Amino acid sequence: MPHKTETINYSAEDGWLCVDAPAKLNLFLHITGRRPNGYHELESLFVFTEFGDKIWVRKSAQLSLKIVGDFAASLTSEGDNLVLRAAQALALYSEQGLGAEIILEKNIPLSAGLGGGSSDAAATLRALIQLWGVYIKPHELEKIALSLGADVPACLYAQQSLVKGIGEIISPLAKPLEFYCVLVNDGTALSTPDIFKTFETQNLSFSPKILETENGLDVGWMKNTKNDLFEPACLLAPEIKNLVDEMSGFEDVLLARMTGSGATCFALTKKLKAAENVAKIMKKRHPNFWCKVSKTI
Ligand code: C5P
Repeated sequence: MPHKTETINYSAEDGWLCVDAPAKLNLFLHITGRRPNGYHELESLFVFTEFGDKIWVRKSAQLSLKIVGDFAASLTSEGDNLVLRAAQALALYSEQGLGAEIILEKNIPLSAGLGGGSSDAAATLRALIQLWGVYIKPHELEKIALSLGADVPACLYAQQSLVKGIGEIISPLAKPLEFYCVLVNDGTALSTPDIFKTFETQNLSFSPKILETENGLDVGWMKNTKNDLFEPACLLAPEIKNLVDEMSGFEDVLLARMTGSGATCFALTKKLKAAENVAKIMKKRHPNFWCKVSKTI
């Protein structure tokens, strides 16, 4: 499908390949322990949304990255960008001097708990495997993904999954949940390492391990879960609590919570109309907040 920006026309006819990099929501996130290397063990339900970034790739002699989209200005296309690091890691694995022109369409806000960077990295790996025709076994690919970030392996599959370990033990749900969601971010950018550090310095307690199977997992069950990073996030940005309280207050909202290390909060509804209504009211009350309606995939 042709897609136009102000300077680039990138379409399949011009040799571009497009891969979705959906946003990620943690419907709950329990921290169950800490590894000697400082990483935390978790139990979480990852779901993905129709809304997200896009990665476009096309063969080229060199590796290059251009960033477009709503949040392009807040990102650099330098070597530390996770998209370039993913491309370099795959090129290294394939032991060929492979190049590509890459375009990242950045629609997901940054440092927002929506897994944008992880999803971009995972989508880059998927796109370049196809473009370059790289043969790679799933466990090798997951190893590369994990080296890029704890959430990247789950983003490779972008399927609703129960996730354990530090993010590498992924069990896709046999019966995916269907919700509409309203995503709201008040503009607060929270650094994931800072939130985990605050969890530690505040001596917050670990949650018990509860995940056995997906049986019985529904919104009622989820009300007995939480996001363990909510408390540390609220210590750094107390207004997040007001946002969750406000979104929980709508009649048709089944569950409202912060995702990942924040600060984006989501509200789940059963019907599109209800989500649109929540978004409309939130936009009216808070014209400066970022707000999006989407659906789980
Ligand atoms: O792996 P990623 O780069 O996304 O993680 C960012 C930071 O978040 C890590 O450096 C670590 O401090 C923290 N983290 C953690 N346990 C996890 C995931 C992330 O402590 N399971």
